[in-house]
Amino acid sequence: MRDLLGLAERKKSRLILALDFVSGDPAVFADRLLAALEPLVVGVKVGLPLALRMGFRGVCELVERYGSGYYFLADFKLADIPDVVREELALLSEAGFDGSIVHLFPMGLEEALSGVRGHDVFGLVAMSHAGSRLLDEHFEDLLRYASRLGIRGVVAPATKPGLVARARAFLPEDYLILSPGVGAQGAEPGSALRHGATFEIVGRSITASEDYYGAAERVVESQRRVIGE
Ligand code: C5P
Repeated sequence: MRDLLGLAERKKSRLILALDFVSGDPAVFADRLLAALEPLVVGVKVGLPLALRMGFRGVCELVERYGSGYYFLADFKLADIPDVVREELALLSEAGFDGSIVHLFPMGLEEALSGVRGHDVFGLVAMSHAGSRLLDEHFEDLLRYASRLGIRGVVAPATKPGLVARARAFLPEDYLILSPGVGAQGAEPGSALRHGATFEIVGRSITASEDYYGAAERVVESQRRVIGE
């Protein structure tokens, strides 16, 4: 399993790239981005839209081809009964992913998650879009639950920086916080880090840019100003 913090240290970056939307052939598109962005991007978060376009075999090939340079995170927002989540995590780990994002609202996941070895689990404690009232209303509950699970960290939105700060203040120190919502959804690069996030997840403002390298570079430069590198 790749070392997420070690890669971050080496690249002096806190950028995780969200790969959901592609233009043209998905394999060619992903290949082009990943071949170019390795010096700047620490992790690649593979979303369901990409997996559905590429097929799971294509995703596994991508993970295998670029596995030496990136941490691979599966974002299929797993939300099922514990036995099924356990099996999903085992298969994603087998496919080469270093970590997965799971919903915490199904609860009762203690046993399913405690058996996971060599694969990081990140629990969603809030969502980045404005209408996510139900989840956000249970933010404190989800945070408490996440902190008891002994997982690698949580996903909390950069678009709601107050929640990132509360997550940082509440969670055990070794929990990582991954923050989506930077760029296309409005949060400024570096802003979630300032509120206590460990990584920022950025998708469309890089993937949809003609100059994706320049777009990623601007994110990382802003982050370096915050982390002092
Ligand atoms: O393109 P954009 O930068 O908005 O991508 C954000 C990514 O983060 C998407 O892959 C989305 O699924 C994900 N995400 C999010 N809010 C959450 C959890 C994940 O936006 N709470």
